[in-house]
Amino acid sequence: MPANQQILLDNRPQGEATVDNFKLVTTDTPALADGQVLVRHHYLSLDPYMRGRMNDSKSYAASQPLGEVMIGGTVGEVVESKHPKFQHGDMVVGMGGWQEYSVVDANQPGALRKVDTTHVPLSYYLGAVGMPGVTAWYGLVKIINPKAGETVVISAATGAVGSAFGALAKARGCRVVGIAGGPDKCQYAVDELGFDACIDYKQYKDMYFLAKALKEACPNGIDGYFENVGGMILDAVLLRMNAFGRIAVCGMIAGYDGQPLPLANPALILINRLKIEGFIVSEHMEVWPEALTELGTLVATGKLRPRETVAQCLASAPEAFMGLLKGRNFGKQLVKLI
Ligand SMILES: NC(=O)c1ccc[n+]([C@@H]2O[C@H](COP(=O)([O-])OP(=O)(O)OC[C@H]3O[C@@H](n4cnc5c(N)ncnc54)[C@H](OP(=O)(O)O)[C@@H]3O)[C@@H](O)[C@H]2O)c1
Repeated sequence: MPANQQILLDNRPQGEATVDNFKLVTTDTPALADGQVLVRHHYLSLDPYMRGRMNDSKSYAASQPLGEVMIGGTVGEVVESKHPKFQHGDMVVGMGGWQEYSVVDANQPGALRKVDTTHVPLSYYLGAVGMPGVTAWYGLVKIINPKAGETVVISAATGAVGSAFGALAKARGCRVVGIAGGPDKCQYAVDELGFDACIDYKQYKDMYFLAKALKEACPNGIDGYFENVGGMILDAVLLRMNAFGRIAVCGMIAGYDGQPLPLANPALILINRLKIEGFIVSEHMEVWPEALTELGTLVATGKLRPRETVAQCLASAPEAFMGLLKGRNFGKQLVKLI
């Protein structure tokens, strides 16, 4: 059995996460028991939720235990199987973690799913045609539920979730406005992802200046907002929401690596009779087949062309993860392991 490089959570962050919170080790891959499959990972997904798991505080999911392999989505290839439904060479998606190989109990429901790479590249199953894509689909379709012609806005617009949101919202006839960090990301949102406009929030020193920019980009106000960031961006969007607007609270990344961020003007929720709903995509498995079918079709027909930032080799994962938390990724952040 092959040697396996792994990254463990070694200690918890005190304030901002650092690369020293992780430890790289090499172990032997155990022999397979009946029902198990050995997967060689081609890509590891890095996702913002991992930052929350590094803490030892109450959340919707258990924290990452110290001394164990960091949790993470993976795509790869079956290299050995003692399960009748999986053969050598099958391409699969699963939760293999920050390591080169994983031994998976394939009888566990949802542990491993075969994927077809004929029209969709393997890595996309961790992004546009995977968990982040379904996240965009759920917040847009089930919470914002826009009518054609309505204006929808999303923060972290060029990331894994944001880019899928843009294509899904355009397909529903919305005016789609992004908020992203930097001129390059904003130009890409408009030129490549089909956003009608994109605002570089880094150009605005406070929520009032950002709200003014939003007024220009959203002349009819904002009907739906997909929240990924929190802080000043949420404060500015609230100033521009239309009556009976809907906000899907997906993430609050601006506060993940430090203190939670306060809301400046909660009375706007009442004044505008807003519906605000948080959600966790893994609690809505019933929508995944429908969402993945639509996302796969958007990719296969060229209507969704997501971008990826790919770090090379497992050892680079901690540094790449720090970059994700600082917005240094441009599109889906992956680590290539093969
Ligand atoms: N609820 C769920 O089930 C669920 C599932 C998946 C993801 N999410 C959430 O969805 C959001 C997007 O996830 P993703 O995987 O698509 O990540 P991503 O957008 O690909 O990457 C994260 C982006 O967040 C922005 N960012 C980072 N730090 C920031 C800060 N301090 N202030 C403002 N922006 C910051 C950066 O974009 P800019 O450079 O443009 O600022 C960065 O590129 C995250 O909040 C994540 O937690 C939630």
